[in-house]
Amino acid sequence: MRPIIIAGNWKMNGTIAETETLLQGLLEAGAPSSNATMIVCPPFTALYRASQLLEGSHIALGAQDMSQHEKGAYTGEVSAEMLLTVSVRYVILGHSERRQYHAESDQLVNAKAKAALSAGLIPIICIGETLTEREEGRTEEVVAGQLEGSLAGLTADQLKKSILAYEPVWAIGTGKTATPDMAQAVHKFLRSRLAGIDKEAATLIPILYGGSVKPGNAGDLLGQPDIDGALVGGASLKAADFCGIVNAV
Ligand code: PGA
Repeated sequence: MRPIIIAGNWKMNGTIAETETLLQGLLEAGAPSSNATMIVCPPFTALYRASQLLEGSHIALGAQDMSQHEKGAYTGEVSAEMLLTVSVRYVILGHSERRQYHAESDQLVNAKAKAALSAGLIPIICIGETLTEREEGRTEEVVAGQLEGSLAGLTADQLKKSILAYEPVWAIGTGKTATPDMAQAVHKFLRSRLAGIDKEAATLIPILYGGSVKPGNAGDLLGQPDIDGALVGGASLKAADFCGIVNAV
């Protein structure tokens, strides 16, 4: 049985005051009715405060990115070790906004994934096609390339600890969601490609769907056999919506 994971990617939202309000709302709502793992990924500056508020709770902490380097002269970067000191357990890597606005390649995402896993963090590795790529019928080719590039050289043990997120770029923040059938088809394809790398890992790796997930569509998406959770952007900024998604599991 794969775990069900609902992760909130706050992106560049969340001052300390906003973080306190949002986390208080989530904590007041109580533990989910399902066995879903809840993760929130606030910006770096809010992680320490979030770690204090979430200590001993049912909500785990994630970061939105990290450096592939251990330490040193990398201005503006944050290392895995630094994240561990503020109780971060998960880290989103290769989000399409990092790939698009910061030119992150599969090779870089791969280096970050290896650094995260070596340090004991669980990477949530994001892949997904653009609208043009989908319209050209290249979805499978694109996501297979991203999958294999981002996971290259990971040991079987590291693969089994990783989480994958399929996020079609055209569905992120647009209100357009892949239908449950469309998403399931890609998730199934990804699992078959994972099986080509490591059969056992393919059965164990949770594959999350991301792209305009809301309380109203979460149930149908999560009802698909190869969709093991959600990576939620906009709707993770409202406690009621995020809890609505968690409780739709
Ligand atoms: P969205 O973002 O839910 O606002 O579409 C998802 C994501 O970028 O992870």
